[in-house]
Amino acid sequence: MSALMKFLHLAAAIVWLGGISFMLFALRPAAATLLAPPQRLPLISMVLGKFFSLVWLTIGLLLLTGLGMLLAVGMKNAPLGWHLMFGIGLLMFALFGHLYFVPYRHLKSSVVAANWPEGGRRVAQIAALAGVNLLLGALAIGVVIFLV
Ligand code: HEM
Repeated sequence: MSALMKFLHLAAAIVWLGGISFMLFALRPAAATLLAPPQRLPLISMVLGKFFSLVWLTIGLLLLTGLGMLLAVGMKNAPLGWHLMFGIGLLMFALFGHLYFVPYRHLKSSVVAANWPEGGRRVAQIAALAGVNLLLGALAIGVVIFLV
């Protein structure tokens, strides 16, 4: 049971962090080189919408399986790294919630209104927040591995 939880936990982390890396380091620069804002921003907005549905699922899985592993051992007995992962994970969930409900919602309405400068600003905000989450994700994995 705990091996299954760890497997699902790891798989969810790979999907989330791998997706951010793909968006930031592959899709965004390629789209910026090849497409003008009226083509680029609707594409980015739709790709993000599909990816974000997956992210909500990974957040549910990370929280459920992470808490499952943590509570099985007991908060009092858990190593420091596990407590830190819990805290960093909650921060990542909050950042994603903000990213989803503020800049991403504005990006969608800018695309509907064909307001490309505003859309471009919102994509830059989303990219910055996603970049922070990528670093936090790496930190969360680092603490659980190194601080046992
Ligand atoms: C807030 C919710 C979270 C909780 C309660 C939690 C809890 C845990 C626990 C208890 C472990 C240790 C498993 C073990 O060593 O047997 C673990 C491992 C792990 N967690 Fe989390 N975690 C959370 C969020 C995250 C997030 C947001 C990520 C990355 C996106 C992540 C990625 C990982 C990875 C990759 C491992 C495996 C490390 C290894 O090989 O030992 N976790 N987590």
